[in-house]
Amino acid sequence: MKKITVAIDGFSSNGKSTMAKDLAKEIGYIYIDSGAMYRAVTLYCLENGLFDGDRLDEETLKKQIEKINISFKLNPDTGIPETYLNGKNVEKDIRTMEVSNKVSRVSTVGFVRKEMVRQQQQMGKAKGIVMDGRDIGTVVFPDAEMKVFVTARDDVRAQRRLDELRSKGDSNTTFGEVLQNIRQRDYTDQNRKESPLVKADDALLLDNSDLTREQQMQWLLDKFNHITKQ
Ligand code: DC
Repeated sequence: MKKITVAIDGFSSNGKSTMAKDLAKEIGYIYIDSGAMYRAVTLYCLENGLFDGDRLDEETLKKQIEKINISFKLNPDTGIPETYLNGKNVEKDIRTMEVSNKVSRVSTVGFVRKEMVRQQQQMGKAKGIVMDGRDIGTVVFPDAEMKVFVTARDDVRAQRRLDELRSKGDSNTTFGEVLQNIRQRDYTDQNRKESPLVKADDALLLDNSDLTREQQMQWLLDKFNHITKQ
């Protein structure tokens, strides 16, 4: 069967990475987490002293950006691709709070986005790929055959994020704090100058507020089968 490109975009904490991973596994496609790439650049900046508090040394970063190589390799035990920064496995290091707090700053830099988009387009050249992010259907693969824009009510997303934090042993953060953080990130994602988060005109809208993981997968598979049979 002819391989296609699947672009999944949407707000933070709406489960789109889990969903994209599940879908890729089911249809035998490669899964790429584009957020992990912005996180890897952020880690590079932290490790190379390019942050002074919240101030980012863009000038130095610009000189080094082409030396930052990000790749993904399948972990044979989990079957899930892991992120490598210049050959080193950084899958765990890019998920820390320190990186989470700085990544929005790094992802607003135009030349960083340009380089990431170039690397993402390279990875998707042969199709057969599911990529998730914020600008995949609009900027990275505007010609993707299947585009999904995922959303969920912000209170539902806050509860999911809170459950995740609790399961990791965080008993202090409140629902109100998480909700506020989500609203703040939604605002930043939608209002930044470089590639703001918008639904592509031809993207399918998926509101998963009241869907189980299984129902969501069925919805995706129905759409995928319909598109690939055309
Ligand atoms: O999906 P995530 O939370 O791991 O994404 C991390 C950050 O990267 C988030 O602040 C949004 C940004 N991002 C982006 O600007 N463009 C993408 N294609 C993917 C993520």
